[in-house]
Amino acid sequence: MERLDKILVSQGVGSRREVAKLIRGKCVTVNGETATKPELKLDPETAQIKVNGRQINYREHLYIMMNKPAGVVSATEDRLDDTVLQLLPEELRRAGLFPAGRLDKDTEGLLIITDDGKWAHRLISPKSHVYKRYFATLDGELTDEGAQRLEAGIKLRDGTEFLPARVYKAADDKVFIEICEGKFHQVKRMFSALGLTVTYLRRVKIGGLELDESLALSECRELTEEEKSAVFVVK
Ligand code: URA
Repeated sequence: MERLDKILVSQGVGSRREVAKLIRGKCVTVNGETATKPELKLDPETAQIKVNGRQINYREHLYIMMNKPAGVVSATEDRLDDTVLQLLPEELRRAGLFPAGRLDKDTEGLLIITDDGKWAHRLISPKSHVYKRYFATLDGELTDEGAQRLEAGIKLRDGTEFLPARVYKAADDKVFIEICEGKFHQVKRMFSALGLTVTYLRRVKIGGLELDESLALSECRELTEEEKSAVFVVK
């Protein structure tokens, strides 16, 4: 059992003070009855809560898939640039959301945003062996020898080591690459070690979860239960 005001705050309805005002203003109903006290205790999983007639679809945590556009940063706040959180529609905004695994500012594609820290940690950890698939366009040709070096694992001159990647060439200068780590600028640095520059990068898959191609850039939607599990498929 939880307090009504706490539940409403957790669902992004407003601050503690704002929701108290809504309750006292008789804008909130619980199972059809007008609630009058912020401290009213109820089970958020079973109670039907409405605010100004709009049903609260209670979810303990949110798991959002976004088709990230270039030009925004994967952060919760930034002094200079817009963040991915600013692209979220009103109904998917709440405190505590953060991107689970970053994409560079100029990278597009599949980004997951959640407020479930444990789940995100599992996703990001290299120990989970979740492969992330990227589509990259290069400024030159990826040779078979270059592909083999990526597949064997690459060590940079500064000592940084990248685990073996899976490489699928789509054209001389277009390639799908799968990696199970998320080191800073990893894909770009791996190709740079071969003397190639990545001119376009898009993440298309995390584990068994593919980017929903019907989402336009900047659009997002909640993950289904199956998709939430698909993320951890190790293949
Ligand atoms: N590797 C990169 O270089 N950039 C990304 O955004 C993701 C992986």
